[in-house]
Amino acid sequence: MKALYLKTYGCQMNVYDSARIADVLAPLGYVQTDTPEGADIAILNTCHIREKAAEKVYSELGKLKKLKQARMRAGAVMTIAVAGCVAQAEGAEILRRQDAVDLVVGPQSYHRLPEMIAKLARAGGQVLEADFPAEQKFDSLPAPTQTKVSAFLTVQEGCDKFCSFCVVPYTRGAEFSRPSMKIVEEARRLVDLGAREITLLGQNVNAYRHETTDLARLLRALAEIKDLKRLRYTTSHPRDMSDDLIDAHRDLDALMPYLHLPVQSGSDAVLDAMNRQHTADDYRRIVERVREARPDIALSSDFIVGFPGETDEDFEATLALVGEIGYAQAFSFKYSRRAGTPASAARKQVAETTKAQRLEALQALLDRQQKSFNRACEGRALPVLFEKPGRRDGQAVGRSPYLQAVHVDGAASLIGQIRQVRIAEAQSNSLKGELLP
Ligand code: 5AD
Ligand code: SF4
Repeated sequence: MKALYLKTYGCQMNVYDSARIADVLAPLGYVQTDTPEGADIAILNTCHIREKAAEKVYSELGKLKKLKQARMRAGAVMTIAVAGCVAQAEGAEILRRQDAVDLVVGPQSYHRLPEMIAKLARAGGQVLEADFPAEQKFDSLPAPTQTKVSAFLTVQEGCDKFCSFCVVPYTRGAEFSRPSMKIVEEARRLVDLGAREITLLGQNVNAYRHETTDLARLLRALAEIKDLKRLRYTTSHPRDMSDDLIDAHRDLDALMPYLHLPVQSGSDAVLDAMNRQHTADDYRRIVERVREARPDIALSSDFIVGFPGETDEDFEATLALVGEIGYAQAFSFKYSRRAGTPASAARKQVAETTKAQRLEALQALLDRQQKSFNRACEGRALPVLFEKPGRRDGQAVGRSPYLQAVHVDGAASLIGQIRQVRIAEAQSNSLKGELLP
């Protein structure tokens, strides 16, 4: 048995990829550990979306290098691998500047880790795999061997939209959808292993299409799987929010009333400069239609403040849009300049202090909305899918249909099950509830 330390940064797709990396390495005898001390291999599965995310990797590599040196002094070996989007974007540079790193593997190549490890053992040196191989990663991955109650399943990868701020089209490559048969097969397998909820993942998940199957059809097929109680999908692009998909929210009980639909900005000028290919009004109309189909749907979004050229009026338009829509939850970021993206070359970059002020104002508004959404749940009975033990003895944590975390005492034996819970109290980021008989 060998110890595998796997640290995941960034998005849910990286969480899925890390689970698959563990599946790929399991036949070689690797078992996951929670700490890097004593690890035979340490893998950082990295994120490149903003500068801050990428910087974290380099500080972690510094710590791992010290551990590796200590292990070497003790006559043992520790392999250090960088996976994910930083590996894809900066792989060669990492190898040049970080001599402690042995392996660099991009997000489309991690099925090759066993070969890479063998090559390293044979020849030493450093091994890099960061091209987009013609052979499909998904065809070479083994079936999942482990799952949580709430599982992720990648159905689509990559992006052809080329928003002018975003590195994803370069790190994850062109849009690619997996065959629906394979997805249904993997979903069945996850349910057999104990999953009760599956979140379908894709950088542009609602652009999913394989032959005649689009995301709406795929959801309808998955909703037939016995014991699969809940379905979700993320992340969607407004341009691909089809009528059929909206109808699925009306028709499918298993499809949870929650939609993460990033708008990024409420200003048409900024949306245009971002190459989002829709206006703020287009977005308003989509939300209106979604709410007609599923009146209680909880909405979520991503926002960027301080995009190059964003004026005070542009930012006010974002605040106004947020005020109109009313979000249950949302993520917001200061624009981060990413090398190689069109927006990074723009002359009119916004000052850091302005970005910080705008972010603070937007987050204050979004926080108020989240709190009022949560408070509106007080007193209601909601079905909760219990996912894991809570911090207190006998407590379990689950999720409401609206993706809120719900803490319930005396529910520890109910993990994997859905129960009606009376929401007693809304806390800032979660709910507390009591089991109903
Ligand atoms: N700067 C700031 N935020 C970004 N995002 C993507 N690229 C950048 C960037 N360069 C945000 C977007 C996207 C989310 C995943 O990350 O809001 O929806
Ligand atoms: Fe990035 Fe835009 Fe593609 Fe989303 S849609 S992954 S923000 S380029």
